[in-house]
Amino acid sequence: MHLECFQLTLSGKAGLLELARPEKLNVLDEQALDELEDLLNHLQGEGVKAVVLTGQGRAFAAGADVKAMAEMDPEAARAFSLKGNRIFQQMEDHPAVFIAAINGYALGGGLELALACDLRLASSKAVFAQPEIGLGIIPGFGGTQRLPRLIGPTRAKEWIFSGRRYTAQEALDAGLVLEVLEPEELLPRAQALAQELAAKSGPILALAKRAVNASVGLKAASGQGEAELFGECFTHEDAREGLQAFLEKRTPVFQDK
Ligand code: COA
Repeated sequence: MHLECFQLTLSGKAGLLELARPEKLNVLDEQALDELEDLLNHLQGEGVKAVVLTGQGRAFAAGADVKAMAEMDPEAARAFSLKGNRIFQQMEDHPAVFIAAINGYALGGGLELALACDLRLASSKAVFAQPEIGLGIIPGFGGTQRLPRLIGPTRAKEWIFSGRRYTAQEALDAGLVLEVLEPEELLPRAQALAQELAAKSGPILALAKRAVNASVGLKAASGQGEAELFGECFTHEDAREGLQAFLEKRTPVFQDK
């Protein structure tokens, strides 16, 4: 498989999947989403049981590609959101257990990718946010659906409405991550956990995952609704302003339009 955005290393029935464009802070563009979809199919075909997902460099993933989004009309934005939702849902429905090893920035779509994983470990240097509000848009890869389920609606609203950044300790306190580790301990710990889980029965592990997901309604059927609203953001001048302001490295001036 030809990969440009990811690197995959398999070790028995455990895998290490790295976002491999550190110079782009591992942004999630169409190509990254396509590769992720291919990888999910490949991992299933190989019978991989546990996968560590991490980012190379200083970011886990700095979100969806703002440059691409700045050019999207409402229909393209809706389609982009639907695609992200569909692929992240595939991760959630996948028989393998995904462990996010959050090494640095997990922002916007990057955080949403971590939310679609089953377990999350964080480096003490990790930074968490759904900063979309500052760009004049809303989360579009399932964040409005999964974050409330994981940390409760009140906290999720605070995160999504404010766009604020949170530390690894705050993410731990919110119940979003299992453990905070020193940066050099993050991958060894995540990989040890993956090996431990890969020693279990694959089909039974997959059934356990399905059962727990069913109990918390983690079937983001409402991803469809999120994509509609994400697309609607792009009918507003404030979305143009917010996205453009990021690219021009200035503070946006929203007009409530
Ligand atoms: N989409 C597109 N490009 C992005 C990006 C994104 N989500 N995040 C970072 N980049 C680009 C920057 O534009 C910059 O490009 P340039 O070198 O061509 O100017 C490069 O990556 C490095 O980022 P920079 O902002 O210079 O690094 P920094 O250390 O000052 O800040 C971040 C790092 C992650 C805090 C900052 O890049 C950021 O806020 N990114 C956007 C996060 C975001 O809003 N994500 C949600 C999108 S849904």
